[in-house]
Amino acid sequence: MQIIIQPDPTAVSAMAARLVARLLHDDGRAVLGLASGKTPLGLYAELARMHREEDLDFHRVTTFNLDEYVGLPPEHPASYHSFMTEHLFRHINVDPTRAHVLDGMADDIPECCSHYERDIRESGGIDLQILGIGREGHIGFNEPSSSLASRTRIKTLTETTRVDNADQFGSVEDVPRHVVTMGIGTILDSKACLLLAFGKEKAAAIAKAVEGPVSAMVPASVLQMHEHATVLVDEDAAAELRLADYYRHVFEHKPAWQIP
Ligand code: GLP
Repeated sequence: MQIIIQPDPTAVSAMAARLVARLLHDDGRAVLGLASGKTPLGLYAELARMHREEDLDFHRVTTFNLDEYVGLPPEHPASYHSFMTEHLFRHINVDPTRAHVLDGMADDIPECCSHYERDIRESGGIDLQILGIGREGHIGFNEPSSSLASRTRIKTLTETTRVDNADQFGSVEDVPRHVVTMGIGTILDSKACLLLAFGKEKAAAIAKAVEGPVSAMVPASVLQMHEHATVLVDEDAAAELRLADYYRHVFEHKPAWQIP
């Protein structure tokens, strides 16, 4: 894995945006895997700025979001449909027919999940999957104990995740218990993964994901098995990494062309 430690969330978001922009310049038809949550907000704001001020073009880009709550209509303010519209899609020129978010209202959830898998495959596969990480190490909504080979499916949230996401709903009781999420196997099929994390509350999860054993109890640790995984964190999220100095040293001595 490539571990990059930046001073603060602004620097992390700027670097992540440069990575995405570089991909889109190389391939205007790139397929992006997108995440929701607080972590990618700075990245999305920077991509919107690049679109506005630097003509970063999304019109042939395809996107697939990681997950969605079951039982929330797309227009619900806490749905990930709303989140993506509000924070990214309405600020860029992505074609709405190519911006895919799972349907948490589908009558037949398993069918909807297999369609999603098929759509990802038919798009040519995800070139770059953006990921955040939960405090217990989840990616997407793949909670601890998720199969490392899992595909897109329904999952039940842990209490920790419901508490962490309660601010979007007003109270924990209002957070749905069920979600649909790309599986860990789906995520691993992406050609590259970029996991972002900020803040001390993510430090333990980052240390386990990067330096702990690969385990279904820490779903993000599976990125150790991916050929092109980058973990881009701020100093606070890096606080529990035993080899932090080594990762800094590796990054400082990278050839210039490898630096985003
Ligand atoms: C949420 C999302 C994840 C996200 C993670 C961290 O529940 N399903 O995709 O990466 O938990 O969220 P945040 O970025 O708000 O800390």
